[in-house]
Amino acid sequence: MELYEKLTAQGEEVRGLKTAKAEKAEVDAAVQMLLKLKVDYKHTTGQDYKAGCPPSENAAITDNGPAADGEGGGDDTVDPWNVSTTNAKGVDYDKLIVRFGSSKIEKELVDRVEKVSGQKPHRFLRRGIFFSHRDMNQVLDAYEKQKSFYLYTGRGPSSEAMHVGHLIPFIFTKWLQDVFDIPLVIQLTDDEKYLWKDLSLEDCHRFAVENAKDIIACGFDVNKTFIFSDLEYMGASPDFYRNVVKIQKHVTFNQVKGIFGFTDSDCIGKISFPAIQAAPSFSNSFPQIFGGRKDVQCLIPCAIDQDPYFRMTRDVAPRIGYPKPALLHSTFFPALQGAQTKMSASDANTSIFLTDTPKQIKNKINKHAFSGGKDTVEEHRKHGGNADVDVSFMYLTFFLEDDEQLEKIKQDYTSGNLLTGELKKLLIETLQPMITQHQERRKQVTDETVKQFMTPRPLNFKI
Ligand code: TRP
Repeated sequence: MELYEKLTAQGEEVRGLKTAKAEKAEVDAAVQMLLKLKVDYKHTTGQDYKAGCPPSENAAITDNGPAADGEGGGDDTVDPWNVSTTNAKGVDYDKLIVRFGSSKIEKELVDRVEKVSGQKPHRFLRRGIFFSHRDMNQVLDAYEKQKSFYLYTGRGPSSEAMHVGHLIPFIFTKWLQDVFDIPLVIQLTDDEKYLWKDLSLEDCHRFAVENAKDIIACGFDVNKTFIFSDLEYMGASPDFYRNVVKIQKHVTFNQVKGIFGFTDSDCIGKISFPAIQAAPSFSNSFPQIFGGRKDVQCLIPCAIDQDPYFRMTRDVAPRIGYPKPALLHSTFFPALQGAQTKMSASDANTSIFLTDTPKQIKNKINKHAFSGGKDTVEEHRKHGGNADVDVSFMYLTFFLEDDEQLEKIKQDYTSGNLLTGELKKLLIETLQPMITQHQERRKQVTDETVKQFMTPRPLNFKI
């Protein structure tokens, strides 16, 4: 096949340039070309390109784990526990799509969401913050035929402190719940954090309940949302546990080693945990909601680092007689210091917390937000700033609703009209009221409200 041969030739070209230690720009251009060909190849054949393996007619489309070839991912590390890159613009998400074998959210899909939901797409979709998906077209096809679906997302409660980055999937999930009018389950993996961190079970569970308050403050509908802690719900729901065991029976140690990088010295709790994160993808894990139906399609909005769990889930689903969950993947929320890594709750200076005061927000942004501006005002006016590496601009892309205003800010910054201090001020003025409002809503969330959300019960919807 022609495309296959082109790809093989391009692969050789890249290797040749690398061996010859060619100019970086030249190697980069060749790698870009190679990646584009790989994406085309995947679209045309439904298979991942593998050197030395011409496309086969009827090979099953598999969800591949990270590819072994070096070109695929550059220096980026992305797994459920680490995110880092050497590139100031952040992780190369197009390469990740190729590496993970997911699909890019193209303009057509965004338009389709608009058509099917009848609502203007959320800014996270308009701006490519949710950038990758699996089977979203199938979900929309079914929805158009009056076949509904449910949402599943989650959070690992590793501390009391949540930062603005943690809100991204929840803000988007709330929007999906509203526009499609569908039920939602939220898993709090207090068990996971106990297994991975040096924390007591009591603390992990306490963090789960505290985090639930911040999640509820995003505005979820109590009649359509079930929030659960694994430590509570696993023991209380025989149907959930049955699914966990089914999944455990169908995934080998070898497979999870390949997907998650577990080693012989990891505790067995970690090794079997992925089954617990997979189980909520199947509707009969929640009989109180779905009345024992096992065929309600699940859609999971999550950050792309969670994809390994769901590659595994999608791989087992058909083998245990369940539909594969569909996915929508988001990019990471960059650390204040730059997009080389994401915000981390354990380093206070990298993050803006949901508990920060307006003054703290202002100081953190002014002091720590990495700037793409020039060193002096004269230079900046002359040459302009670089919005692509500027953290304040990136944050505005997440939170400033007005598209035209955002575009104008970008132009003004790039041309040198807008100075770094002024850009930071715009961000501060956007974040301060947003966080204050969040804090006010959180104050309204009582223990009683949390209990309501976390009680297994029927939800209000029609499938
Ligand atoms: N493992 C996730 C974390 O540490 C929590 C989680 C559980 C999750 N289920 C999920 C995240 C589903 C997204 C979607 O944050």
